[in-house]
Amino acid sequence: MMSEENINKERRNFLAIATATASGMCAAAASVPFLKSWNPSAATVAMGAPVLVDIGNLQVGEQKIVEWRRKPVWIIRRTQEEIERLLTANEFLRDPNSDKSDQPSYVKNSYRSIRPEILVLIGICTHLGCSPKYRPELGSVNATWQGGFFCPCHGSIFDMAGRVLKGVPAPTNLQVPPYAFLNDTTLLIGMTSEDDLSEWKT
Ligand code: FES
Repeated sequence: MMSEENINKERRNFLAIATATASGMCAAAASVPFLKSWNPSAATVAMGAPVLVDIGNLQVGEQKIVEWRRKPVWIIRRTQEEIERLLTANEFLRDPNSDKSDQPSYVKNSYRSIRPEILVLIGICTHLGCSPKYRPELGSVNATWQGGFFCPCHGSIFDMAGRVLKGVPAPTNLQVPPYAFLNDTTLLIGMTSEDDLSEWKT
């Protein structure tokens, strides 16, 4: 179990990452020439403005982190094996169908995503708010590890859809934020396809 000092250190680490990724986010927005210009101030982003993310160069297995509403949002391109694994071993999950978890209705499926290969999650543990670690490699946390997310604060474990396993402190699956695809390679975090997205497109 992690001490109070180490939990605070985890949170300081997240703030450092969030600060670094905020500037990366502006760079991502600038690299999407076919969308209308959008260069919000840091204060606007903090207030909850939607965030454009270019995933055109997101490689299989890679994790991208952006900040939305002062929270880290993870975007991961899953492998075909990871996608197929999500359809099995549900007996080890506390909330396999995400009935008691927080996500938009349109991602309430086994992948917890719009497209099976693209995972979008709020990177904050649903126990006490630490930032779990992305550990996709089989066996990297324990002998039976199937890949997923590990929270070092009190040992909560989530699968590659952010679904929590039974027997750990976190009560629910990791949260999925609202998001929409503007095209094949551009995500908009903070809005859904049911919103008016015309101002975000050319
Ligand atoms: S904050 Fe306690 S397990 Fe993640």
